[in-house]
Amino acid sequence: MSLSSQGIDAEVKPVSEPTGLDHSTVPAAGLFSEERSADVVAASFAGTPSPRLRQIMSSLVTHLHAFVKDVELTEEEWAEAIAFLTATGQKCDDVRQEFILLSDILGVSMLVETINHRSGGTSTESTVLGPFHVVESPARDLGDDIALDGKGQPCLVSGRVTGTDGEPIAGALIDVWQANDDGFYDVQQPGIQPEQNLRGLFRAADDGRYWFRSVVPRYYPIPDDGPAGRLLQATGRHPYRPAHLHFIVQADGYAPVTTHVFCDDSPYLDSDAVFGVKESLIRPVPVVDDPEAARRWRMPNPFRTLEFDICLRPAG
Ligand SMILES: [Fe+2]
Repeated sequence: MSLSSQGIDAEVKPVSEPTGLDHSTVPAAGLFSEERSADVVAASFAGTPSPRLRQIMSSLVTHLHAFVKDVELTEEEWAEAIAFLTATGQKCDDVRQEFILLSDILGVSMLVETINHRSGGTSTESTVLGPFHVVESPARDLGDDIALDGKGQPCLVSGRVTGTDGEPIAGALIDVWQANDDGFYDVQQPGIQPEQNLRGLFRAADDGRYWFRSVVPRYYPIPDDGPAGRLLQATGRHPYRPAHLHFIVQADGYAPVTTHVFCDDSPYLDSDAVFGVKESLIRPVPVVDDPEAARRWRMPNPFRTLEFDICLRPAG
């Protein structure tokens, strides 16, 4: 059919192709078909300048197409998946990160963390960052009390930061944050909890030791009023995480570690909603009934104690 036969009176000029390109032929990888879909689409990324991006996109397409074929995804399910991801993005704001939650409950956060921080058993193991390290922790002095809301069982948290040869790391920066006794982080309850409740940034003493006053962490549900929670509910999973205290520890010349310490008497240690538990990170939280020790540490008597030594491996 000519253009003039469609009522368009225009002089038709031949379109010249840019040098070296001829879109009139079948691409080298062939036309799209169900059988060859992954190869055809992966080939479209062959000209990606970054080798790493080319590798990632090619692998992503290969696995994504295999998944769609494996489950024979229906159009309704694909539309639902797009609506789910759209809702996940729309749920995000300055203090709510639904994509991290989604990544967490699918075990992807934990897998990325584990692959990128293989300790080889020589240093403290890492675990997920979690979605609540969203504000800068306030600088505090060793021995300070980070439980500003006065709720929960008083607990003295202490330990030593060393390198893999046992050398103390003076001045190591220790960033901690935890949920309160109701199972919420301060950023989840603005106006209810004091700002910067249960957060602190400490520097280890010359012998690598650190200590501060807090309360026993409590197990809690991850926020389950959004798409990630709906997914948990639809699949019969609970949203709980076992009781833990978050740490990021760093020092010049050493690889930083993002980790938790878990309380050994907490429920959900064997079914963490985000798969963050590692055996090496579980510690007892015994009761100390010793008026003299309580006076020395400025604790009420009796009190609980949580000891967590941290070992950093050399940078690089
Ligand atoms: Fe947490």
